[in-house]
Amino acid sequence: MVVDLNTSAPHSARIYDYLLGGKDNFEADRAAAATIVEASPSLPISMRANRRYMARVARHLAAERGLRQFLDIGTGLPTSPNLHEVVQEQDPTSRIVYVDNDPIVLVHARALLTSTPAGSTAYIDADLRDVRKILRSPEVGALDPSQPVAISLIAVLQFITDEDEAHAIIDELLAPFPAGSTLAISTVTAHNDQAVAGAAAYRSRGIPAKARTDEEVTKLFRDLDLLDPGVTLVHRWRPAPEDEAIGDHHIQMSGGVAVKR
Ligand SMILES: C[S@@+](CC[C@H](N)C(=O)[O-])C[C@H]1O[C@@H](n2cnc3c(N)ncnc32)[C@H](O)[C@@H]1O
Repeated sequence: MVVDLNTSAPHSARIYDYLLGGKDNFEADRAAAATIVEASPSLPISMRANRRYMARVARHLAAERGLRQFLDIGTGLPTSPNLHEVVQEQDPTSRIVYVDNDPIVLVHARALLTSTPAGSTAYIDADLRDVRKILRSPEVGALDPSQPVAISLIAVLQFITDEDEAHAIIDELLAPFPAGSTLAISTVTAHNDQAVAGAAAYRSRGIPAKARTDEEVTKLFRDLDLLDPGVTLVHRWRPAPEDEAIGDHHIQMSGGVAVKR
């Protein structure tokens, strides 16, 4: 496999990996991370809270709502616990398809492919903007079309800066899946000065990024039914005790989970 990592330019997955304490990053990513953390010192706290949000959402969907098929786009580098570990703990037959467009995530995808023997995990190297490629992939084709799918866009929509494009992507993604399918989102909130400054720092490093108001995040769910507590800062979504202790001012992501009618 020949992969062009272009390590001289910063990449969001590697910046994120560095801020979570990972090793899969390069000088350009660390320099970009330093600029971003200078603008936004709470970011590492927020990122860890976002990761726990992903795990709570996945556990809820598997344990409380019986979802067994998951399509996670903007997966990022493997970080424990990965989504498949959370949901296969509930039911080892769960099937997970991961998608990311960063070549370094592709290089590390093997660590995401550690499914239980009864279930499956797959990885697609694709761009969220190319929904057709994702939906027509053999990996998504192998999911049971009669059963609901839990789609997750966790900490990725801030990189889709045009609202019309974000709405079109979501509509196209949900279209083929039956009622009861779900959409989980987290994205950078505009109600936090550090988050706004952080998005600007990404842009200054050549990565388009935007912060969204709760109203804009709510609109992303349009025709879907939002589950309680609606759109909220991620640590406030059905929080665990360790989340309740975190001050709102540290949290730069808001999100929610909704169900297709
Ligand atoms: C901030 S990380 C979030 C990782 C993970 N979802 C989490 O919350 O821990 C964003 C990820 O989205 C990926 N990404 C950004 N734009 C993307 C796009 N247009 N298509 C697919 N993946 C994208 C990046 O490569 C990166 O791995």
